[in-house]
Amino acid sequence: MGSLKGKVATPRGIEGEKEWQMELFPECKAPDSKGMFITFEGGEGTGKSTQLKLLSDYLHSQQINNLATKEPGGTEIGLELRQLLVTGDKDKFDAVAEALLYYADRRVHLTTKVWPALNNGVWVLSDRFADSTVAYQYYGYDKRVDKRLLDELYQIAVGDFKPDLTIVLDMDPKTGLERSFKKALGMATKETRHESRELAFHENLRRGYLEMARQEPERFVVLDADKSIERLHIDIVQVVKERFKL
Ligand SMILES: Nc1ncnc2c1ncn2[C@@H]1O[C@H](COP(=O)(O)OP(=O)(O)O)[C@@H](O)[C@H]1O
Ligand SMILES: [Mg+2]
Repeated sequence: MGSLKGKVATPRGIEGEKEWQMELFPECKAPDSKGMFITFEGGEGTGKSTQLKLLSDYLHSQQINNLATKEPGGTEIGLELRQLLVTGDKDKFDAVAEALLYYADRRVHLTTKVWPALNNGVWVLSDRFADSTVAYQYYGYDKRVDKRLLDELYQIAVGDFKPDLTIVLDMDPKTGLERSFKKALGMATKETRHESRELAFHENLRRGYLEMARQEPERFVVLDADKSIERLHIDIVQVVKERFKL
């Protein structure tokens, strides 16, 4: 490991930070890693978990080794954070505290699970990633977190790494929420902290995702999610085949 002496910490980070991250955290994604990182984004009940599982099965059928995971809660520590984040009163944190907790989960998830898998050539499919934090804590809330703070957190916790493909499942939030509440009826722990927010919040989320997708068209694909599970799966497989030349 290189010496930290002589490096200068600044509010924007630390000089020479890029090289450092690799030295201090050798579990970072290696630049020549062969694994692809695909994230699923979208509002509540749009079918992310359902479609991620189907894509994972499809990739396995194509002999592509892959790992299905989620945020928050893709690790043991993450599961504890998830309990804090997705259950209980919707106003129990302010948006900054909430963003920090999501980033704590993300950092553990990346360093202990996502990057090691990618470095081994395993593809990783994640049910939500950093775009969710921007959608919820920036676009969604009235008392939003400053976007510069979210960008800074991304730099600190994630660095230059980003998904190879982000699939946004887009639909009228009313339909998604109905699905989500129906699903929650059958669950022991009610993960409905965000679902309990007003409809305007969910409409902001949807607008936020569409805006992010417009800003980074090379990474995002937006799909109409208001169709049958089977039809949407076919669309997703087509996108993945095209993007990764399968
Ligand atoms: N295309 C679809 N049409 C109807 N119901 C769906 C569809 N996709 C998912 N569902 C159902 O809606 C609920 C929420 O789906 P889920 O995949 O958990 O969404 P998310 O992970 O985006 O919140 C589940 O009960 C699921 O079975
Ligand atoms: Mg889900």
